[in-house]
Amino acid sequence: MIYIFSLGAGKACPMSSTILTPGDEFDRMEQGMRQKVAVLDFGGQYAHLIVRRCRELGVYSELFPHDVSAESLVEGGTQAIIFSGGPKSVYERDAPMCDLEVFKLGVPILGICYGAQLIAHLKGGVVRRAEQREFGRTEFFVDREDELFHGIRKKLTVWMSHSDRIESLPNSEVLGHTEHSPLAAFRLADRIYGVQFHPEVHHTESGKEIIGNFLFRVCGLQRNWELKGFVRRAIEEVKREVGDGKVICALSGGIDSTTTALLVHKAVGENLTCIYVDHGLMRKNETEELLETFKKLKLRVVHVDARERFMRRLRGVSDPEEKRWIIGEEFIRVFEEEARKLGKVDFLAQGTIYPDRIESARAQSGRRASRIKSHHNVAALPKKMNLKLVEPIKDLYKDEVKEIAKELGLPEEIIKRHPFPGPGLAARIIGEVTEEKLRICREASFIVEEELRRSGWYDKVWQAFAIVGDDLATGVLGDERVLGHVVIVRVVESVEAMTADFARLPYGVLENISRRITNEVKGVTWVAYAISSKPPSTIEPC
Ligand code: XMP
Repeated sequence: MIYIFSLGAGKACPMSSTILTPGDEFDRMEQGMRQKVAVLDFGGQYAHLIVRRCRELGVYSELFPHDVSAESLVEGGTQAIIFSGGPKSVYERDAPMCDLEVFKLGVPILGICYGAQLIAHLKGGVVRRAEQREFGRTEFFVDREDELFHGIRKKLTVWMSHSDRIESLPNSEVLGHTEHSPLAAFRLADRIYGVQFHPEVHHTESGKEIIGNFLFRVCGLQRNWELKGFVRRAIEEVKREVGDGKVICALSGGIDSTTTALLVHKAVGENLTCIYVDHGLMRKNETEELLETFKKLKLRVVHVDARERFMRRLRGVSDPEEKRWIIGEEFIRVFEEEARKLGKVDFLAQGTIYPDRIESARAQSGRRASRIKSHHNVAALPKKMNLKLVEPIKDLYKDEVKEIAKELGLPEEIIKRHPFPGPGLAARIIGEVTEEKLRICREASFIVEEELRRSGWYDKVWQAFAIVGDDLATGVLGDERVLGHVVIVRVVESVEAMTADFARLPYGVLENISRRITNEVKGVTWVAYAISSKPPSTIEPC
């Protein structure tokens, strides 16, 4: 299930010099005055990173569809625009386009990669397929300092990812070049800039400074976003929103839902009831540990043991999408039944974070087939049960949520724990979910995590777990040849799960994992290591 959100609208207003917390921003948004950097999404994998870099620099930023209207940008308080990169070529027929009116707003624009090529294309320049494509680390030479490269070294290592290049651009000033891109950075009149490389990516030397130069020196923006004070303001906001109303929250134990529950609890106390649905697909000891944590955090939690129900419904189902659908649907049923037992409830608190909203909006607009996190499944309930939504962390990125969580006293184990999919271990069991495969997956995953913690690798990787399917392979137990399961170990490094690569674990660590799994998990004869990256593979196998 997905939900719709509307992007902020209001009146443009002059810049203020006060530093605002996100909480203050809530007030300002009510008054329709949210000042922001609008990042236009042309489909590039790093679009979110641009938004994050702006926020890290202390300026509020949001991601918009590439064709958002210029009018709504102005009405939403946009003070600077950044065009993201994207996979298309500007000269293709279906190349994503912006509203041409954005060039008439007088708001400074920075185009990145595809964004820079689009500006060049629309301003009379020539963009063609390059004979020599540039991917990865590339040397960039600053030809003219300008405000954009103020205080930046003359030679930089930057991150490139392009097949086209800008050949010419009338009335432009060349600010920098690389070996194969004579126009790798340019400036046009009216504070319009383009860079062929990706300043938002960590591998680009001084990338953050370059974005900072654009925001502060070119656009003259002032800082208006910091997390200090968020907790206090968010609590006040929830209090105002909810009053004496009754709130329910679907608590999974993940950082988003737990942080949400804590914020709402601080605001409304006993008027919040959390519902924890144990679908039987959790990691080893996870339910017990979570219930203990909830108790310490003084949250009122209804624990629903729905393990049998889920297993019954999953019997005989092997298609990954069908499994996911069943789990989502059953989750809603259980949650709804429990919620009704509580009598009159007015609000549903939900741990939606900013990237979820964007994904939901993309899916809504049909731009991208997108899998929506399972907690969104309860998004069908507000309408069904006539509930209003409370989403105190809806503007935050994961890293920002982690900071807030720390402040709220969430234990390190929860903050640092790897992401876990809503469908739980079912996403890691290929084919039908049986008790036998569930046991193997759970025990083997526990060993993988434990060995990574022991060797100091756990915090360095994005996710680490075991996968099990129906393949059987021969092993020897004593003198006997036996058939047993093949367990695949998956350990990946990733930035926000958009792309991923397998972790280059030392052989010693892999050897310990393999030996322990075959020795300690009954019914396993083989252990393999998944070395596929994403793309083309995904992180979870189903
Ligand atoms: P994939 O497998 O698509 O996963 O590469 C990307 C990231 O998303 C997580 N994931 C999910 N999270 N509900 C969730 O809450 C889901 O249905 C779901 N499917 C995948 C996955 O663990 C990885 O971090």
